[in-house]
Amino acid sequence: MKHIIYIFLLCSIFSFAQVRVVKELDSNWKFQKGKSLEAYQINFNDANWEKVNVPHDWAIYGPFDKEIDKQNVAIVQNGEEVASEKTGRTGALPHIGSAWYRNNFNIPEYETGKKVILLFEGAMSEPKVFLNGKKVGEWAFGYSYFYFDISDLVQEGENTLAVEVSNPEFASRWYPGAGLYRKVSVIVKNKESIDQWGTYVTTPFISEQEAQVNIKTKASGKQIELVTTIFDTDGVEIATNKTTEKFGTEFVQNIKVKNPQLWSPESPYLYKAVSQVYVGNELKDEVSTKFGIREIKYEAATGFSLNGEVRKFKGVCLHHDLGPLGAAVNKSALRRQLSILKDMGCNAIRSSHNMPSFEQLELCDEMGFMFLAESFDEWAKPKVENGYNRFFSAYAEKDVVNLVRATRNHPSIVMWSSGNEVPDQWGSEGVKRAKWLQDIFHREDPTRPVTVGMDQVKATMESGFGALLDVPGLNYRVHLYEEAFEKFPQGFILGSETASTVSSRGIYKFPVEKASMKEYSDFQSSSYDLEYCSWSNLPEDDFILQDDKPWVIGEFVWTGFDYLGEPTPYDTSWPSRSSYFGISDLAGLPKDRYYLYRSRWNTKDETLHILPHWNWKGREGETTPVFVYTNYNSAELFVNGKSMGIQKKNNTTPQNRYRLMWMDVKYEPGTLKVVAFNDEGEPVAEKEVKTAGKPYKIVLSPDKRTIKSNGKDLSFVEVSVVDKNGNPCPTATNQLKFKVKGAGSYRAACNGDATSLELFHLPTMKLFSGKLVVLVQSTDDAGSIDLQVIGKGLKSGKLKLNSTEF
Ligand code: GAL
Repeated sequence: MKHIIYIFLLCSIFSFAQVRVVKELDSNWKFQKGKSLEAYQINFNDANWEKVNVPHDWAIYGPFDKEIDKQNVAIVQNGEEVASEKTGRTGALPHIGSAWYRNNFNIPEYETGKKVILLFEGAMSEPKVFLNGKKVGEWAFGYSYFYFDISDLVQEGENTLAVEVSNPEFASRWYPGAGLYRKVSVIVKNKESIDQWGTYVTTPFISEQEAQVNIKTKASGKQIELVTTIFDTDGVEIATNKTTEKFGTEFVQNIKVKNPQLWSPESPYLYKAVSQVYVGNELKDEVSTKFGIREIKYEAATGFSLNGEVRKFKGVCLHHDLGPLGAAVNKSALRRQLSILKDMGCNAIRSSHNMPSFEQLELCDEMGFMFLAESFDEWAKPKVENGYNRFFSAYAEKDVVNLVRATRNHPSIVMWSSGNEVPDQWGSEGVKRAKWLQDIFHREDPTRPVTVGMDQVKATMESGFGALLDVPGLNYRVHLYEEAFEKFPQGFILGSETASTVSSRGIYKFPVEKASMKEYSDFQSSSYDLEYCSWSNLPEDDFILQDDKPWVIGEFVWTGFDYLGEPTPYDTSWPSRSSYFGISDLAGLPKDRYYLYRSRWNTKDETLHILPHWNWKGREGETTPVFVYTNYNSAELFVNGKSMGIQKKNNTTPQNRYRLMWMDVKYEPGTLKVVAFNDEGEPVAEKEVKTAGKPYKIVLSPDKRTIKSNGKDLSFVEVSVVDKNGNPCPTATNQLKFKVKGAGSYRAACNGDATSLELFHLPTMKLFSGKLVVLVQSTDDAGSIDLQVIGKGLKSGKLKLNSTEF
């Protein structure tokens, strides 16, 4: 039997190559900034243009410049009434203006009569697309996926694609990136074929014995037969169904899967549906769709449940940029982000405030993250002068339709969001817009609920805006949860955006005290995790709601990683060009807060983390509080062997409930040691932090030693310095240089310092709080790669990586 299956699979793979060709246009692009009236023409001379690969973000190469996004404005959502000069709001990188991309491509499989689709997974922004000198079409929103049928314009032999993108100023509240920052592909298929995003898989019935998989398929062509076959995760065929009958405009199939393996964050089991279109005996098209079998419910009494198990979202919000890579999507950078979040115990992602990349959704399906897929930060009323409000009436429905159709088969997606803090929360028009958008989501996908992240909670209680949503999402406003629960009819509340605590990795400020919008002369925020914004709060304010109120269904912390732009509380100070909100910094290096979330979210592994560092020359004898983030309830602290006493978590303050804090410790150089106790009072774990001497040696530690030779894969190498005894030097700021040789190249570096104006793509950078990360990228050739990191007066760091085909 197995043999037959293999033959069948081989046949289908072989015929797949014949019937449908998907060509990613990733190389051979020509790029030029600026306007041009001729660049769309076939014979236009682009010989002097820059050669680039796509995904590409033209702005990430800098330079940072405060003039780029300087504006005199009052940010109303932040409660400001008076305008002030803002800088760095969009990252202070040169993303504004127009640019052209040109690509000459050839598809040998194309012949007259075939159907050809040109697919963009995002283009920042307002793309105008031309093929062979003729306009194909245009789109507006930079985050949308869109496609054109180019069957009538494409030709055998060489084709010339030209795309103009333009970013106006004042169009974003964060760094949007610039250009063709997501994939572009050409799909060649037969006339008799499955429509773009034409497959819709749901699992309406699930029991232990069987699941009913419902597959709706939109396909074009006459006299076609649709064969859908389901394979398990090992590629073994488990069920198949044939049909020629359409219900309305689509084929509908119900296929039984016996003893289904359910998808969950802990066990992200994926099936595959292969849809084949036949005319007679001839295979005309084949599309493969991964899906999961899982059940989601949102109920008044119990809140959210997955596969019958009530659970809470331990989620983070993420902007789309990837720090030093900018907006250019990269799967291995996304995978690393998710691995870091997985270790923290995070189980959910919100793509704030726009459509996620396909790569991110694929990884969330595979690695096990639930997903809240958002669409807009603005509807018809503006937050920024040139924001989405300009396009809302013409595009909102098209954008939502494309979001849902393109992504609805991902089991990770458990909720949609139609908006974030839209000013339309005010006024009766906004209530109608909320309903209109929610109805579009329901029409396209009746299986998932819709939320809006609301900040004007009082207004939405009065107007009915909050009541009509499937899931009422509160952004911050912890003091209004109880009232919202009473007034809204749904019977549960989601923390759609929480905390917005600010900190800089490895930076500690004294005295240690809670503070709102606190600023310091070095434009950093304290890593004692007690600083927040005027509209936001500390992590514990949310923990208490999550733990004590069964009707709170989880939270999405602002944010999992720092991002470019929005440098609150320093948006009127220069230099400062990226956020301080992240649980990890812009380089992906965990801040202390990472361990606070880990101590409650990761219920499998031990967390025992001490802060601050213990290098405080000049603070001898001064009060230097010590905090410990741990899953244990009590611990004893020692300074150079002297006990500072035992601390136990308690309910006297929100912080005392979740952190262990020794507020009166006097600094003396040496060793800080913490011993944690289990609930029986037995010592079960310990950790030490030592005062380090002078930086002596560079240490390199990669997230991966072997990468794929596909020209895209990355190894993220953490670079730090240690003293003669191997102790990490937590305050080192040495200027380092990077050299990569062999089958790889230097891609970028990042140290997580929001005030740094050093450029990511240049092979030199200063350490920030003793660390930075170097990104080494593979080439198309397999082989070994050597990274060398040098710094004045330091023993250099050397590392060998491997690049292989598989
Ligand atoms: C929220 C907003 C986010 C971000 C955050 C910063 O109000 O939704 O986009 O601006 O504040 O705290």
